[in-house]
Amino acid sequence: MRSLLIFVLSAMIFIGTACSGDQPSEKKPRSAKADPASYNRTSPDSEKEEEAPEEEEVRTVPPEQLAKAKAILAAATEDQIAEVDAKGKYKMFCAACHGFDGALGVNQAKDLSASKLSLEESVAQVYFGKGLMTPFKGLLKDHEIVAVSKYIEKELRK
Ligand code: HEC
Repeated sequence: MRSLLIFVLSAMIFIGTACSGDQPSEKKPRSAKADPASYNRTSPDSEKEEEAPEEEEVRTVPPEQLAKAKAILAAATEDQIAEVDAKGKYKMFCAACHGFDGALGVNQAKDLSASKLSLEESVAQVYFGKGLMTPFKGLLKDHEIVAVSKYIEKELRK
């Protein structure tokens, strides 16, 4: 009987020490790990939110290009623009990447039917190019760039 009692007691003590010994040692590193991780997670998120508008700012047309586009638009007369075969120019110079409907998207070309750029921004981008889009300064006359940009706005946008 005594040996059984001793066994039961020692077993209880063993279980008691095993539990009390293990639990804090397991909990401590977990909580220690969880805290910095949760802090780390919140800080990059808030950084990303701050970065997002910066990326959009980079995507907008630089002011000096916009100024040139305004000058191009001001110089192009209605008669000059009307004379241009804008559809023909578009097919010849733009459709390879943008497609006849504007939505082809070859070489990461933007969907022109979904474009929200102003006429000035479009003229600036066609004149100066952007990313994989080649500049059309020299390839197309200034008023032809205006005519094609107007064609996109009137005919391709939904
Ligand atoms: C070599 C392929 C290629 C050709 C040819 C091309 N583009 Fe582009 N175009 C692109 C790419 C790529 C973009 C996206 C540029 C970016 O934002 O990085 C783009 C974007 C545009 C945008 C801006 C759309 C927006 O909403 O941001 C306009 C406007 C545009 N092109 C008009 C034209 C016109 C007009 C022509 C013909 C005179 C033309 N493109 C010819 C590749 C091309």
